[in-house]
Amino acid sequence: ANRKFFVGGNFKMNGTLTEVETIVSRINEANFDGSTELVVAPPALYLLKIQEELKPPAQVSAQNSYTEKSGAFTGEISPNQLKDANVHWVILGHSERRSLFGDTDKLVADKTKAAIEAGLSVIACIGESLEERESGKTQSVVERQLEAIAKEISESEWKNIVIAYEPVWAIGTGKVATKEQAQETHEQIRQWLAKRISQSVADNTRIIYGGSVNGKNCTDLSNAPDIDGFLVGGASLKPEFIDIVNSQK
Ligand code: G3H
Repeated sequence: ANRKFFVGGNFKMNGTLTEVETIVSRINEANFDGSTELVVAPPALYLLKIQEELKPPAQVSAQNSYTEKSGAFTGEISPNQLKDANVHWVILGHSERRSLFGDTDKLVADKTKAAIEAGLSVIACIGESLEERESGKTQSVVERQLEAIAKEISESEWKNIVIAYEPVWAIGTGKVATKEQAQETHEQIRQWLAKRISQSVADNTRIIYGGSVNGKNCTDLSNAPDIDGFLVGGASLKPEFIDIVNSQK
């Protein structure tokens, strides 16, 4: 399979405008060779400014979008507005959205459908909690989260999705999944795609890992056959993000 390595930097709700611009100018100065697809997701407030400043082919991504095109939905941003503003990516279903803001499997699936219909590409996040992993439910949880999305989109639309496997217990904790743990789940996700959607979707969909990825552990993880990149939180704000972008096998 020929899956282009993909690294996303999710800044979450961090940084002043000046700080975010400093981070982005460091990324610009790194002069990547283009072998990794690079997307950075600043807070929504800064998207347009950062989009002007970010050096292509790196692209910006939103951290969330809503299910509707427009209307009385105070505080929300529609995928159509993102598309209109030339923002081509959105992160959906992040565990913080699920646990803190009520994004259910169904809402994430509906948001994903709306984003794809608007012409966006989606970084669709899934992952189990510590309790779910310890009780052997990892596979059933990620399959349930994916099944909700699969019900809403057609086979051809999977080309606009990158799956981010982010075990909740690894996010922001410094407790990175081992290469074996991540590879095992990524492989199961790919097998599920083959069975539920098609072999070609399984072969071509990027499955990236997120959860305490840093400049030190990225190379080992990137060697796993089914890890096609990373979604990086904390370390995307730091100079080591450059090493992560350059960690492809
Ligand atoms: O979206 C990114 C993930 O939540 C990972 O965050 O790298 O700070 O653990 P982290």
